[in-house]
Amino acid sequence: MVAMSSTAASLYDRVRRVIPPIEWPAFSDDIDAILALKRERNAVILAHNYQTPEIFHCVADIVGDSLALARKAMTVDADVIVLAGVHFMAETAKLLNPDKTVLIPDMEAGCSLADSVTAEDVRLMRQRYPGVPIVTYVNTSAAVKAESDICCTSGNALAVVESLGAPRVIMLPDEYLAKNIAARTEVEIIAWKGHCEVHERFTAADIRELREAHSGVTVLAHPECPPEVVAEADFAGSTAAMSDYVGRHKPARVVLMTECSMSDNVAVEHPEVEFIRPCNLCPHMKRITLANIRSALKHNRHVVTIDESVALRARLAVERMLAV
Ligand code: 13P
Ligand code: SF4
Repeated sequence: MVAMSSTAASLYDRVRRVIPPIEWPAFSDDIDAILALKRERNAVILAHNYQTPEIFHCVADIVGDSLALARKAMTVDADVIVLAGVHFMAETAKLLNPDKTVLIPDMEAGCSLADSVTAEDVRLMRQRYPGVPIVTYVNTSAAVKAESDICCTSGNALAVVESLGAPRVIMLPDEYLAKNIAARTEVEIIAWKGHCEVHERFTAADIRELREAHSGVTVLAHPECPPEVVAEADFAGSTAAMSDYVGRHKPARVVLMTECSMSDNVAVEHPEVEFIRPCNLCPHMKRITLANIRSALKHNRHVVTIDESVALRARLAVERMLAV
């Protein structure tokens, strides 16, 4: 018998397929406290698809991929936004909500892609390729966004690149996303050398082994994976697109070549689908926990701030993307 408070108790049903009863008491106290603090502070929690199920299904108000979080951040009616995700996502939410308090529970929740390029690098690329538009993945700092013409996410990268009407564009910083998009467009893409430390580790051989070991398995890959992985997969798309694919096609067996929590979160909604789980953890996403979300709300930390001269230009690049 699991002892739990009434609010958390009513939430356990949502996650019982992925959180064993023995683990639940460790979460229920924080969940109740977070729900109360959200009411007290008129706060909402935005959670990325890579957050663990007790965050994603039990305390988040808005969930989704980077694009959905950016879009929905614009419509939030609250005084405080807690971003359960990584720092660039919190910055994007702040860019779109300059008058709201945006909190990130752990300032160290970074991203290998965001760390792979600086504002100075972008300025040098502009000098080297005069007149070539610069498309920056949202997985970058606000300072990098401020130097670019437009942002994109994995969900809209092709549409953004083609919206520019240019024969050549620079796509920063994810080399594999750039190459995966280049394979689907006539536009010439100049790439950078950044990689996602989670997705770069998947190989085409992994997929072949999975197909041998699990007959009939459907393989979905994130476009931050190397092109040879995307080529071997049945479908490639953003985290939201992979989740939609499972909902629409209901494959008997599926493997998501992406961050581990994604399978848990999607599995909760599709009990009839068998999830095969070789996956890689994102150490940055996993810095966010119920305990630090609770203390973020309680102690108003860590407040995300962006220098106004940077914010003005970075906001433009994000708004241009949202208009595509
Ligand atoms: P999307 O959710 O936009 O597909 O991005 C995945 C990702 O790696 C975010 O860190
Ligand atoms: Fe960055 Fe990759 Fe982690 Fe996403 S999964 S936050 S791209 S390191």
